[in-house]
Amino acid sequence: MKTFGLHLQALTLFCLTLCLQRTAAFDPKDIKTAINITWSSINFKTILEWKPKPENYTYTVEVSGKYTDWEKRCIRSMETECDVTSLLEDVKDTHTARVISDIPVTEDFVEEFPHAESPKFIPYEQTILGKPVIDSFELNKDDGKLNIFIKDAVTPYRFPNGSFKTIRDIFQNDLRYTLFYRKASSTGRKQVSSTTNEIVINAENGESYCFFVRATILSRKANRDSQDSDEKCTPDGHNASRTLLPEYMTLCTLILIYWLL
Ligand SMILES: *[C@@H]1O[C@H](CO)[C@@H](O)[C@H](O)[C@H]1NC(C)=O
Ligand SMILES: *[C@@H]1O[C@H](CO)[C@@H](O)[C@H](O)[C@H]1NC(C)=O
Ligand SMILES: *[C@@H]1O[C@H](CO)[C@@H](O)[C@H](O)[C@H]1NC(C)=O
Ligand SMILES: *[C@@H]1O[C@H](CO)[C@@H](O)[C@H](O)[C@H]1NC(C)=O
Repeated sequence: MKTFGLHLQALTLFCLTLCLQRTAAFDPKDIKTAINITWSSINFKTILEWKPKPENYTYTVEVSGKYTDWEKRCIRSMETECDVTSLLEDVKDTHTARVISDIPVTEDFVEEFPHAESPKFIPYEQTILGKPVIDSFELNKDDGKLNIFIKDAVTPYRFPNGSFKTIRDIFQNDLRYTLFYRKASSTGRKQVSSTTNEIVINAENGESYCFFVRATILSRKANRDSQDSDEKCTPDGHNASRTLLPEYMTLCTLILIYWLL
């Protein structure tokens, strides 16, 4: 009991010293309110960013939705960005963030910490779609069909069973892929859309095709389209030997080096 009391005394003293030190370093005019607060979000990973860099104070971020209470992240941080992904899982809710400039707790004249409010953010409507990725493609020579498989990007959110949700799991039929394709020998482009991850086109025999994919969220008014994926080409065209050339050259060089050594 006695030692406990002693510990308590020491602790109080320690705290008091700490608080006094904080107060000594604190000058209200050093503390700035955050400006230019922006949401930066791709495939539902969302970072809040703001200015200026703090000196002699810290920031704490709070986020709330229409129906949820303020929740804190990046408490007493010296950074000017904060990963708030985990607070936005209700992706259709309208979220607001506050960037609070922390002041020493002993300053009892302050009723509310100085803070700035962010613009509103609805992840479902505003997160940017990442550049889609063509997973693979398959040319069926018998029926002349070219099947193109698109990889659904994963989001940071998980199902109860622990596996990550993809953008398809969240957007469902609101997410559409458009394939833009052309014969490798021409520039005339055609397009075909699908709300699945596999797109099939008719391929002429012996022709090489080049194609890329764009994702679109149909319900959106702004930020509807993703960037275009990288372009891929089927190898069986006039271009095939040309694309393989660097690999052969590397191989030859390696063999040459081997023999020389
Ligand atoms: C903050 O944003 C405004 C426009 O919204 C811009 O004019 C200003 O330069 C920005 N300030 C800083 C420090 O980036
Ligand atoms: C921060 O505090 C240190 C020491 O207390 C002081 O030298 C420095 O000028 C302060 N910086 C600002 C921007 O107030
Ligand atoms: C987890 O649950 C989701 C949705 O219920 C399902 O699509 C997915 O296949 C499941 N993953 C595993 C590894 O069981
Ligand atoms: C080979 O393909 C590239 C694009 O992948 C194209 O720019 C080029 O014109 C093609 N060359 C021939 C000979 O088809």
